[in-house]
Amino acid sequence: MTSRLPALARDPATAEYHDRHSADHDEWYEGQVRFADSDRPGWDAEVQRVVELVRGLPPRRTVHVACGTGFLTGHLRGFTVGLDQGPAMARVAQPRLAGGMVVLGDALDLPFATGTFDRLVTAHFYGRRPPSERAAGAAGHVV
Ligand SMILES: C[S@@+](CC[C@H](N)C(=O)[O-])C[C@H]1O[C@@H](n2cnc3c(N)ncnc32)[C@H](O)[C@@H]1O
Repeated sequence: MTSRLPALARDPATAEYHDRHSADHDEWYEGQVRFADSDRPGWDAEVQRVVELVRGLPPRRTVHVACGTGFLTGHLRGFTVGLDQGPAMARVAQPRLAGGMVVLGDALDLPFATGTFDRLVTAHFYGRRPPSERAAGAAGHVV
């Protein structure tokens, strides 16, 4: 029988990488430590624009899929649920969601009934994929 689940975002090594880097993930956004020497002209201003864009969205019941550390999630207004597969990421994100919560789950098999949320946000989610998942995506085996 063919699986109906997407072939993307299923790699255990990628999940382990994210879990291992939960504590220092935001150094990427902030250009610190591991990323202090990165050559990224205009980076800080661009990150700031994304934060402002997220903060400027009207308050809604929102699910942020693959929320990671909650770096962006914490700027969403209205009741917000972050969903991530990684327990370590979830632990970092939870304190950033005043009045909201983080749940563990699969971004591509969401554990919510239709209509639970007004809005779904996701960002920077597919970036780190092993060759097998890239090949599956290129072949159209994603849904
Ligand atoms: C590079 S981080 C980005 C986090 C956040 N979206 C941001 O922009 O700051 C990617 C996140 O996607 C999560 N993720 C990857 N595949 C997932 C899946 N199938 N279900 C849920 N979360 C997933 C990882 O655990 C990780 O926290």
